[in-house]
Amino acid sequence: MSSTRPRVLSGVQPTGALHLGNWLGAIRNWVDLQDSHDTFFCVVDLHAITVPHDPARLAEDTRSTAALYLACGIDPQRSTVFVQSHVGAHSELCWLLNCLTPLNWLERMIQFKEKALKQGSDVSAGLLDYPVLMAADILLYDADQVPVGEDQKQHLELARDIAQQRLNARFGPKGPDGERMPLLKVPEPLILKEGARVMSLTDGRSKMSKSDPNEASRITLLDPPELITKKIKRAKTDPQLGLEFGNPERPEADNLLGLYALLSGRGREAAAAECASMGWGSFKPLLAEATVEALRPVQQRYAELRSDPGRLDQVLAEGQARAEAVADDTLARVRQALGFLPGPARNR
Ligand code: AMP
Ligand code: TRP
Repeated sequence: MSSTRPRVLSGVQPTGALHLGNWLGAIRNWVDLQDSHDTFFCVVDLHAITVPHDPARLAEDTRSTAALYLACGIDPQRSTVFVQSHVGAHSELCWLLNCLTPLNWLERMIQFKEKALKQGSDVSAGLLDYPVLMAADILLYDADQVPVGEDQKQHLELARDIAQQRLNARFGPKGPDGERMPLLKVPEPLILKEGARVMSLTDGRSKMSKSDPNEASRITLLDPPELITKKIKRAKTDPQLGLEFGNPERPEADNLLGLYALLSGRGREAAAAECASMGWGSFKPLLAEATVEALRPVQQRYAELRSDPGRLDQVLAEGQARAEAVADDTLARVRQALGFLPGPARNR
């Protein structure tokens, strides 16, 4: 883990089973980055309580999400894998950033508006503050790049604005000519086109999501083969023969063909050629098989990991120590720039 490599940080919320969107849009891309980047991956459990949550499930969902990271190919030898709430600096930097972030920046966040609408009358301050906590996650590690799905682009822009306009421009240390030097690294989003937006199986116009009450709308990474096959069999189709990309009238065809291209490893061009005149009845078993085969090794590794809980605990303890070392340094830098009196325990 050389420090000259660009740094990457990302995370997923432990709110129920991870699905194909989380895998293809996020985690799968993390795996390749391990070769070229200094990688930090956290399970963002503090984000998971921004909507009403079940305390009886949080710890288990946190463990299973971490285990899925490893099962998908995140290698704790090369990556720092940790739980957000295990590193206190996330909450503390979030508070400091809160006091520097204009309220109206948060009120414009699309995801807040969507989630608040779903929540009805029970909207927490934490839900509004969610992107500031996310900014803290990223800025603590001076991340150069943040791999996320398309839906997180606006949150990334907010993190950049907070770093640039609210921290660096106002509190950056003064250089020799009196100009402000950066206090925090301004992160770039890393959004891969393919897989960046996996759509629901029951509606090709809405995103595959953990919070959709209809479980048939998503395939989770731990769905057994029969269930995967059943969900694909029932997936929404249209009356037209042949699958194609990019027809705005046929979002389901675009989505399912895209899944086939990725999961079979054939790529978009070959998949489009293969399925151009194929009926849904022939295509669906093909997609089901590709999905089952793609998930088989992930599910096998997951089962192995869960049979040895001590190993996962050890990975997360090591991750916490490595993450803390970096995060505490950044936090100390920000505290100093904001003018706090250093406490004795903080003089690192
Ligand atoms: P979440 O499930 O909201 O915690 O999202 C975790 C990661 O998965 C983020 O990087 C999201 O952008 C990504 N993601 C979530 N849903 C999808 C989807 N339907 N398609 C592509 N990426 C997604
Ligand atoms: N908001 C992200 C999502 O729902 C999860 C997240 C929290 C995250 N903190 C992050 C992603 C930091 C990348 C970097 O997908």
